[in-house]
Amino acid sequence: MAAHSFDPRQFRNALGRFASGVTVITTRYEDRPHGMTANAFVSVSLDPPLVLVSVDNRATLHRILPITGRYGVSVLAENQEKLSNHFAGRTIEGLKIRFTERLDIPVLEGAVAYFVVSVIDAHPAGDHTLFIGQVEHFEAVDDRPLLFYAGKYQQIRAEKAKPTPWPQDEFSLFSIGSFDPPIT
Ligand SMILES: Cc1cc2nc3c(=O)[nH]c(=O)nc-3n(C[C@H](O)[C@H](O)[C@H](O)COP(=O)(O)O)c2cc1C
Repeated sequence: MAAHSFDPRQFRNALGRFASGVTVITTRYEDRPHGMTANAFVSVSLDPPLVLVSVDNRATLHRILPITGRYGVSVLAENQEKLSNHFAGRTIEGLKIRFTERLDIPVLEGAVAYFVVSVIDAHPAGDHTLFIGQVEHFEAVDDRPLLFYAGKYQQIRAEKAKPTPWPQDEFSLFSIGSFDPPIT
């Protein structure tokens, strides 16, 4: 579809064909944890280790991230759908939210990976802002992640595939089969 005949709904539907995980981006503001569900989380660079999150300019996080300067990323596990909804503004009364901390940044217990990031750049991009951050800390476990595809939560159904052997000298952020044994 040409840009001049852009239908926002169809645009969103097409973007939704790109399957992703689900994260909750957290920061500590006025001594309290604040979180926002985000799937626009991107790996950017291996050396230096950089990631980014794209935040809607209307989101609370957009206002407070420039003040706090650091954020945590919790990559949600497949049983954490309720947390995703909760931090996407569909507040669930009575939901047990267990925060833990990494380098003084609150993150959600039970996630499959954590990153703690220091914001090094913020790029305005249309109605969103890209917050690029340097990774200060990360960890991961080999549990199943929650997926988001075509506007719905999904789960990985396939059995774990055997990793493809990949020559070390070709190693990059996007190497296939580069998931090493879990770091615990
Ligand atoms: C699966 C999912 C992914 C989302 N991804 C993003 C995202 O990448 N960036 C963003 O700004 N909002 C995203 N949102 C919407 C925010 O989570 C939602 O607007 C939130 O309520 C904003 O926070 P606030 O209410 O504190 O302002 C996503 C929502 C869902 C359910």
